Amino acid sequence: MSSGKLGTWVVTILVISPALFSLSATEPEFRSSDKRRLMKERVRKMFYHAYDNYMKYAFPHDELKPITKTYTDSLSELGNLNLEHLPQNYNGSALTLIESLSSLVVLGNDTEFEKAVLWLSENLTFDVDARVNLFECNIRVLGGLVSAHMLAIDSRNRFTQGTYKNGLLVLAEDIGRRFLPAFDTPTGLPYAWINLKYGVMENETTETSTSDCGSLILEMGALSRLTGDPRYESAALRALRTLWSMRSSLNLLGSTLDVETGEWIEYSTGIGAGVDSFYEYLIKAYILFGKEEYWRMFHAAYLAVQRYFRHGPWYHEADMRTGRATFWQLTSLQAFWPGLQVLVGDIPAANSSHREFFHVWKAFGVLPERYLLDHQMLHPTEKYYPLRPELAESTFYLYQATKDPWYLEVGESIMKSLNQYTKVKGGFASVRDVTSMQLEDHQHSFFLSETCKYLYLLFDNSFLVGGNYIFTTEGHPLPVLSDWHDKLPDSYILANYTLIQRPMSQATPASALSLQVCPATTLNSGGEGDRTVESACHIPDASRDHRCLNGYDCGTDATTCRRRSCSPSGYCGLWLSI
Ligand SMILES: *[C@@H]1O[C@H](CO)[C@@H](O)[C@H](O)[C@H]1NC(C)=O
Ligand SMILES: *[C@@H]1O[C@H](CO)[C@@H](O)[C@H](O)[C@H]1NC(C)=O
Ligand SMILES: *[C@@H]1O[C@H](CO)[C@@H](O)[C@H](O)[C@H]1NC(C)=O
Ligand SMILES: *[C@@H]1O[C@H](CO)[C@@H](O)[C@H](O)[C@H]1NC(C)=O
Ligand SMILES: *[C@@H]1O[C@H](CO)[C@@H](O)[C@H](O)[C@H]1NC(C)=O
Ligand SMILES: *[C@@H]1O[C@H](CO)[C@@H](O)[C@H](O)[C@H]1NC(C)=O
Repeated sequence: MSSGKLGTWVVTILVISPALFSLSATEPEFRSSDKRRLMKERVRKMFYHAYDNYMKYAFPHDELKPITKTYTDSLSELGNLNLEHLPQNYNGSALTLIESLSSLVVLGNDTEFEKAVLWLSENLTFDVDARVNLFECNIRVLGGLVSAHMLAIDSRNRFTQGTYKNGLLVLAEDIGRRFLPAFDTPTGLPYAWINLKYGVMENETTETSTSDCGSLILEMGALSRLTGDPRYESAALRALRTLWSMRSSLNLLGSTLDVETGEWIEYSTGIGAGVDSFYEYLIKAYILFGKEEYWRMFHAAYLAVQRYFRHGPWYHEADMRTGRATFWQLTSLQAFWPGLQVLVGDIPAANSSHREFFHVWKAFGVLPERYLLDHQMLHPTEKYYPLRPELAESTFYLYQATKDPWYLEVGESIMKSLNQYTKVKGGFASVRDVTSMQLEDHQHSFFLSETCKYLYLLFDNSFLVGGNYIFTTEGHPLPVLSDWHDKLPDSYILANYTLIQRPMSQATPASALSLQVCPATTLNSGGEGDRTVESACHIPDASRDHRCLNGYDCGTDATTCRRRSCSPSGYCGLWLSI
């Protein structure tokens, strides 16, 4: 892989970043890099505190109970946790180890990565009588395996020569095959629950959510590309197309539905639980596979979200049929949205929402699961904070895009809270109630795959240098490969499996990971020569007809990475020199 060009590009950001320019002398820059080093060490300690305790007290079971220093086999029935149907002597699926693989690589621990990969290759089996949630199993297990496989075979030589024999891919294919019976429905929409050994159980519920059946394409698509077996990608794509065909005339999708009838059950919908990763996977599928179809779906869906859910920096819920507001609630999962907006180049909107989420974090010490915006109070039962990553994730993306050192302070503050409130001798524990900071005996695997990873990348992004990745909704990186692309935006030059950014002499990068995929559309906005390029994703705050008042409404163009301005006729754009 050729990494030279991209390396230069990353250095260039540091030099030209206006945020750094605005600091008085060179001294603050040093302070910033010292701070990053210090913070990076602190995250490293957090990760290993979580990881080592898991390995000591829980492995090969699924997740650690950090207070009692024992384990839970939670992959079975994740999201339900009745732990029914578990076989005798069950030892779990090493879920937290699978989830840690890509983080070990990001943290540069090749030795431990190799050890873990070899253990899993030899000892893991999915032939167990356990009922699992398809979505959770897909993003955590299949995603963890596929990502780690790709990291194991890239050109970095992380393994002692000849020791890796595609064991993770064999496992990934095995579990992928076990997913397929779930898709055997009249609609192609998959059942939410599946028994790994026996397939769909008799009397299984036909109810699922939009994110459950609309966030499979990255992992299953990658599996098809890696194995040459098209069934996984086809199944996920068919489900996605069915789901999209069920949208309302406003381009909104509901939040729960029936997989047999293809009818909506819950019409109230938003960007949080039950829907969130559906949006995320459309844009990320477009980045990973380059298919225009994903872009078209994403674009329409994104515009609808911004139009019907957004209220200033907040997002409420609305009825998919009428667009009328239903619930005025902030949920902790919504905090991923600013990160997604960075990916599409809508920085001002991302920045303003992120700030509000951080205010709520500061007010409570961590983010409560649900906050009632209309009553300005916590939801009476959902007062927990299960070590969720979304705010750290968005902070990472915003820092990548802007290099504004303020985001480093946000990261520092998040870490301080995590260490202060959730760290116990045996790991990190979830918060049961943010008003009392009473803890719960559970260290979720996503704390290792996401929370720690995004915090680490905020302070040290060397993993990203020399390659383009997209992160799955569980934080597992997938390299963006040229031969997986049907079609790419013109602005990218492909070279040897690495996407190389066009040189940007006076440009300010708009989005993270050196990939901006928000194709511009040319507007003829009236006046002579008044031709502008509109970044298709940005919706200015100013007014309903998408016009801007000033440059701040317009952000940075996602295709060229140049700052956009507001034209005299009120359109955001980059002025074309004709
Ligand atoms: C689980 O681990 C125990 C202790 O190592 C072992 O005796 C048992 O056979 C294992 N169960 C299975 C299903 O492998
Ligand atoms: C890798 O992880 C193992 C297990 O926590 C630890 O003992 C070792 O020091 C780590 N190595 C590096 C280079 O961080
Ligand atoms: C597989 O598990 C067994 C039993 O725990 C262990 O002895 C063996 O070393 C494991 N294989 C690898 C490659 O780690
Ligand atoms: C399925 O549901 C029907 C009706 O409720 C019940 O009679 C039957 O025993 C159930 N079958 C299983 C396997 O649970
Ligand atoms: C984010 O918003 C704050 C407050 O409005 C502003 O001061 C800051 O410059 C913005 N940052 C970016 C990168 O847009
Ligand atoms: C791609 O790789 C080949 C062989 O490793 C090399 O000769 C070529 O220069 C590379 N192309 C680019 C654009 O880096």
